[in-house]
Amino acid sequence: MNKPDLCVAKNREKVTIDYINLNLDIKPVFKGKKYFLRTYGCQMNVHDSEEIKYYLEQLGFVPSEKLEDADIVVLNTCAIRENAKDKVFGYLGRCKHLKKIKKDLIICLCGCLTEQPSEIEEIIKKHKYIDIVIGTHNLNELPKLIENASGKQTVEVYSNSDKVYENIKYSRDSKISAWINIQLGCDKFCTYCIVPFTRGRERSRKMENILEEVQYLKDNGYMEVTLLGQNVNAYGKDLDLGYDFATLLEKVAKIGIPRIRFVTSHPWNFTDKMIDVIAKYPNIMPYIHLPIQSGSDEILKKMNRRYTIEEYKKLFDTIKEKVSKVSITTDIIVGFPNETEEDFKKTLDIVNYCKFDGAFTFIFSPRVGTAAALMEDKVPMSEKEERLHKLNELVNKYSLESNKKYLGKVVPVLVTGPSDKGINKVCGYTDTMKLVNIDGSKDLIGKIVNVKILDAKSFSLDGVVC
Ligand code: SAH
Ligand code: SF4
Ligand code: F3S
Repeated sequence: MNKPDLCVAKNREKVTIDYINLNLDIKPVFKGKKYFLRTYGCQMNVHDSEEIKYYLEQLGFVPSEKLEDADIVVLNTCAIRENAKDKVFGYLGRCKHLKKIKKDLIICLCGCLTEQPSEIEEIIKKHKYIDIVIGTHNLNELPKLIENASGKQTVEVYSNSDKVYENIKYSRDSKISAWINIQLGCDKFCTYCIVPFTRGRERSRKMENILEEVQYLKDNGYMEVTLLGQNVNAYGKDLDLGYDFATLLEKVAKIGIPRIRFVTSHPWNFTDKMIDVIAKYPNIMPYIHLPIQSGSDEILKKMNRRYTIEEYKKLFDTIKEKVSKVSITTDIIVGFPNETEEDFKKTLDIVNYCKFDGAFTFIFSPRVGTAAALMEDKVPMSEKEERLHKLNELVNKYSLESNKKYLGKVVPVLVTGPSDKGINKVCGYTDTMKLVNIDGSKDLIGKIVNVKILDAKSFSLDGVVC
């Protein structure tokens, strides 16, 4: 077993980044065997799973519908909140049970949970039935580790993140809409957040490689790309090559792929130049996810978010004014250590001001290793739950209100797949990222169609093609 090299402090050091062109030779040594892959967490993990899927398929594995039929199970984990972790360990219980019956089953754990020193120690001590533990920085070593799986636990987790791999191959879930990493890691160190520890230093991919990938996807019929990074507006700063996110966005827009999206934008450093580019190009979608986290300046400061509510409001108003019909969603945490009733009221105030199109809301979850986990917190959980409930009621009220504005309107929708609302229905997204269930046949999948909106709910719209 290799000794895990987990020293999170390293993530804070500035190091020279190596750009490495991958050229893997993977042999189909597991031909006819089956894999089961389960993904937790954010879009980054979803996209990483597309890389994992590529490796598994190159090794000869085919997908299995059921865990019980699998010869290898891969769990791509998330560590953002305690409940994300609980879900993984709950599922591991099922895997452990299966391994008792199926001795040759290979169990592989990857993703952010593996990069948390406290977790990895527990995994090594208590979960010996896991065959492979691989970190977030060296996914490309997975084929080799699977090929060499010997029944003894192997741990290949590194805290260092001084590399950017190019020429990564993916087995993408969709032939219509594709994720593209533009930036890895995060350097913001919001005090509640584990991501800088699990994903390492902020590193941008070189622009020419991203543009090449967009061009390739367009040539292969993709209708939409989503540029991924924890802080896309910091894109390029680490490269010092004279370009930034606005430059990249404009160049991507000029390639002419029908729809371009990006997540996530930090309210800090969201430049006017970015807003102008978003406003100028019709193929950059008028949708921005702009996490606010709290309505209280005191809490924002303790969170190390680097903006005040006044600054957020100013940015919000400018975006609304310059980008026509833009929709804006957000993330909010309630119950940050010692959040007062007054602080919480300020969060409700900012929600009343912004009337967000949607919001992901969370109760603060202490993460071992982060600064906020060490802060004193006298707010009882019952109080936090009550705040979350109140906040959700307000957030849902505004989601419904903003969706109702679509009633009777005709809007372009990119149809992405069948709808789970009925057999003769498909679903897709408006340019403003509203989910629409549409009466129509599967022939519409992959097309942008005009849809008349007939009904509006808090989380979706219903419509017919016209
Ligand atoms: N990079 C993005 C956020 C990625 S994490 C940004 O800065 O906007 C997604 C969301 O999870 C965060 O916006 C935050 O609202 C929430 N989150 C992160 N850590 C959390 C924690 N410890 N407890 C509760 N929610 C958390
Ligand atoms: Fe986490 Fe903050 Fe980085 Fe977002 S910006 S990933 S919330 S540390
Ligand atoms: Fe994403 Fe969870 Fe990691 S939100 S970056 S998979 S901790």
